[in-house]
Amino acid sequence: MDKNILVTGGAGYIGSHVVRKLIDEGYKVSILDSLINGHSRSIPKGVVFHKVDLGDLASLKNIFDENRYDAVMHFAAFIEAGISMKKPAEFFANNCVNGFNLLNEMLRHGVKKFIFSSTAAVYGDPVQDLIKEDHPLKPVNNYGVTKLIFENILEMYKKSYDLQYIALRYFNASGADESGEIGEDHSPETHLIPLVLKAALGKMDEIKVFGTDYDTPDGTCVRDYIHVNDLADAHVLALNKLFESEKSDVFNLGNGKGFSVKQVIDSAKKITGKNINVVEGERREGDPAVLVADSTKAKDVLGWMPKYTSIDDIIKTAWTWHSSNPEGYND
Ligand SMILES: NC(=O)c1ccc[n+]([C@@H]2O[C@H](COP(=O)([O-])OP(=O)(O)OC[C@H]3O[C@@H](n4cnc5c(N)ncnc54)[C@H](O)[C@@H]3O)[C@@H](O)[C@H]2O)c1
Repeated sequence: MDKNILVTGGAGYIGSHVVRKLIDEGYKVSILDSLINGHSRSIPKGVVFHKVDLGDLASLKNIFDENRYDAVMHFAAFIEAGISMKKPAEFFANNCVNGFNLLNEMLRHGVKKFIFSSTAAVYGDPVQDLIKEDHPLKPVNNYGVTKLIFENILEMYKKSYDLQYIALRYFNASGADESGEIGEDHSPETHLIPLVLKAALGKMDEIKVFGTDYDTPDGTCVRDYIHVNDLADAHVLALNKLFESEKSDVFNLGNGKGFSVKQVIDSAKKITGKNINVVEGERREGDPAVLVADSTKAKDVLGWMPKYTSIDDIIKTAWTWHSSNPEGYND
């Protein structure tokens, strides 16, 4: 196969896993990443790497002038919902304006296929037990708003400029490649599984549980953890679909099973064999009790089937990464 895919944010957590999967499937891959939150160590040897910020329009134009791409996968964004409430302008600039410039440059060069990293945060507070793609779109944080704005731009561009896109709404990305060579290393880290494993490694004194009186089986919040390599499989299936059918679409990507904060901590204790200090605290504002995906559409249309359905299997792979890289990428 000689298809060439540009992956923005390919040195980040999810992008780096998708890059490996694309290479395994025979795609040629180029990465564009400013490394603002990415890691050079995650970039496989031999992959073309453009260390460029999407806000640098001249460099972006040069990259498209000098290379021919068949599709773009767009992971580059700011991701931390809490920070988005304090710095909305930065989130809007990066997640909307930079993405918008990328789209325009692609289209000027005749590249029409686009895979977008969207998020469950576009839904806001759930009104269904299992969230489907037609759930109301009412994000409750600025991060979710920026992703929804961008989804709307994609739809406009589809109608007016024949853009062909697939937006993938991930729930809680988790785990790591079984090799232990790449994994999750965000700064600041706010995701539960890496925080719990940092506590197991003694890098944090304790893990705080926000709320133990929710209407859930054990009183703690329930979330949908989807393994990063299952996300990678879905990206390749979505890309293949775009090459076959040119039909734009939106899919949820979740495990379909919820796990509570307490279940995650218990699993981590079992797998690591370490003591983890747990401190119970008050609920946080804006945290719904349960957020779980209905991913039937991705299964039916893309033929996707997540392989990591148990929380133990997910945490095992995360532990392989964290225990062999206790300082993360350290770059
Ligand atoms: N991690 C999750 O659980 C999750 C859930 C839903 C959606 N998403 C989405 O998936 C995508 C990837 O998330 P992640 O967890 O891998 O994040 P990440 O921060 O690890 O990766 C993002 C990458 O984009 C790069 N980047 C950011 N802005 C850039 C710019 N202007 N120019 C060039 N490079 C830039 C960063 O350096 C980083 O390598 C994001 O779009 C995020 O919104 C993530």
